[in-house]
Amino acid sequence: MEVIVTGPHEVAPTAAAVVLDRLGRLARAATRREPVLGLATGSSPLGLYRELAAAVADGRVDLAGAHGVALDEYVGLPQGHPQSYRSILVREVGERLGVPPDRLEVPDGSGDTLEELETAAAAFERRIAALGGIDLQILGIGANGHLGFNEPGSALASRTRVKRLSDRTREDNARFFSGFDAVPTHSVTQGLGTILEARTLLLLATGEAKARAVAAAVEGPLTSSCPASVLQWHPDVVVVLDEAAAAGLRNREYYAEAAAGLSR
Ligand code: F6R
Repeated sequence: MEVIVTGPHEVAPTAAAVVLDRLGRLARAATRREPVLGLATGSSPLGLYRELAAAVADGRVDLAGAHGVALDEYVGLPQGHPQSYRSILVREVGERLGVPPDRLEVPDGSGDTLEELETAAAAFERRIAALGGIDLQILGIGANGHLGFNEPGSALASRTRVKRLSDRTREDNARFFSGFDAVPTHSVTQGLGTILEARTLLLLATGEAKARAVAAAVEGPLTSSCPASVLQWHPDVVVVLDEAAAAGLRNREYYAEAAAGLSR
């Protein structure tokens, strides 16, 4: 795992440099194909998406052929709701980065029954497989350690499925809605096992509210009580943090030395 701690305004450009580096490697690979980017929503990656939009605008990268795959979707929001993750990805990624809507895969949270939602979740997994898997998955982290909407207690090998949101998550996300009660109670989320299959994982976190979860994810035990600790199991993870989010880490000095050298 590579842990990069930087200033609050450097998180997005640093993360963008990681994405551009991995895209460059893909473009140079013998098995070259269009990249598949896994896309988190929430506030953490917005600066990164703006940095990538700037890279597209000045010709440093072309994402017109890329595919975007959402991490999750709320259950039960009407089609076109501004806070549905499909709407957000079309707005924040599709339009800014030049990825057409028909290249954005989002789990379908419109089903009325568990069976319909599970069918949609299975179809989403098949779609990821048909694309050849996710090359780089962008992630945020919940203050309770959730990854995607895999709340504490989620199976480490879980696949895309319906998950109930914890009250903590609904409280945190109430800022995007008219209040707590307006936040959906359920989501369809990539499972932790699904996330682990992406070739590279890139986690962004800023602010002191994330410090405890980040410390548990990066340096705590691998446990479903902190779903993001599953990152420790993956061979290619980059974590980009500001000072506040990194405040609970014990091994900061080592991470800084390692970042300056050759190792991961
Ligand atoms: C978003 C997602 C969530 C968020 C997390 C952090 O698609 O799956 O795991 O990444 O809740 O949210 P922010 O970035 O808003 O603090």
